[in-house]
Amino acid sequence: MSYFTWVNSVQHAVEILRSGGLVSIPTETVYGLAAAIDTPQGIQRIFEIKERPFFDPLIVHVSNLEQARSLTTGWNSTCDLLAKHFWPGPLSLILPKTPSLNPMITASLDTVGIRMPRHPVCLELIDRLQVPLAAPSANKFGKTSPTQASHVRDEFGDSVFVLDGGPCEIGLESTVISLGEGRIDILRPGAITQAMLQNLLPHLKIEQRASVASPGHLEHHYQPSIPLFIYESGELENLLEKPSVKGPRHELVLDPNPALAARTIYSQMREFSKRGGFISVQKRPEQTDGLWLAIWDRLNRAAYKSSR
Ligand code: TXA
Ligand code: MG
Repeated sequence: MSYFTWVNSVQHAVEILRSGGLVSIPTETVYGLAAAIDTPQGIQRIFEIKERPFFDPLIVHVSNLEQARSLTTGWNSTCDLLAKHFWPGPLSLILPKTPSLNPMITASLDTVGIRMPRHPVCLELIDRLQVPLAAPSANKFGKTSPTQASHVRDEFGDSVFVLDGGPCEIGLESTVISLGEGRIDILRPGAITQAMLQNLLPHLKIEQRASVASPGHLEHHYQPSIPLFIYESGELENLLEKPSVKGPRHELVLDPNPALAARTIYSQMREFSKRGGFISVQKRPEQTDGLWLAIWDRLNRAAYKSSR
């Protein structure tokens, strides 16, 4: 894309957002579906077109620390340290919300999720708009997140302007953490790992803790439109004999480098889904560390559940 096309697209996005419309934004994790936080009709529209229940709060995206502080009453020195090391980047902080923030954004919770994304186009957009953006991932509720502009177009057609920033660098949603007294709970694992957080904050108790307040942790989430089955080594024969396993088989082969595996799993799932049949992934019991935790968290949630 030429420089001028790029600048025009960002300016077009600013105008849409100012008038209460939606724009799909590129970030380093996944594409978001954004509205300016000061446009109630835009915020409401996010829930409508995503078919997202109103009990699921949105993350607010900022381009500077001043904006981040304005959203919360709980900004402290730990937040400063986290922001200094991991922002802009794939870390969302759950903090007490400022009273003036539209309760629809936070699903009426008294906390707000805040993140400074690392994509230059996204940061430029927020800088020009001078208003933070509330944005969930740009997919229908419960489905796989988009990691390319074309994925968003497949999901929403022409109804949303997509600011194309190329394929997402990380490919998995941000780490979501909640900050408490002397502790940090990891509500959703991501590219900022428990070890990275613990390294920075050795005196804090840091634990993985999926919370009902974080519906990204619902059992049925991140699902592709064809069933995905996880099988253990030596169990493939058994899987293929199951009556629910029908049509062409697409094996999702994970790159041994977790950064590369993370970057491509969602686009592979989408490609396979277009061809029908089912997806199979071999379980690797040794893949538990660092980014693998986030990858397997998403794969386990994406997996076919017979109760569906
Ligand atoms: O990487 C990401 O985080 C992407 C990009 C677009 O920034 N966004 C994203 O948003 O994945 P979404 O809405 O698909 O997932 C946000 C998760 C949800 O599980 C939501 O429940 C949780 O964060 N969350 C947001 N605000 C929260 C809050 N106040 N308390 C607890 N969980 C919250
Ligand atoms: Mg999502």
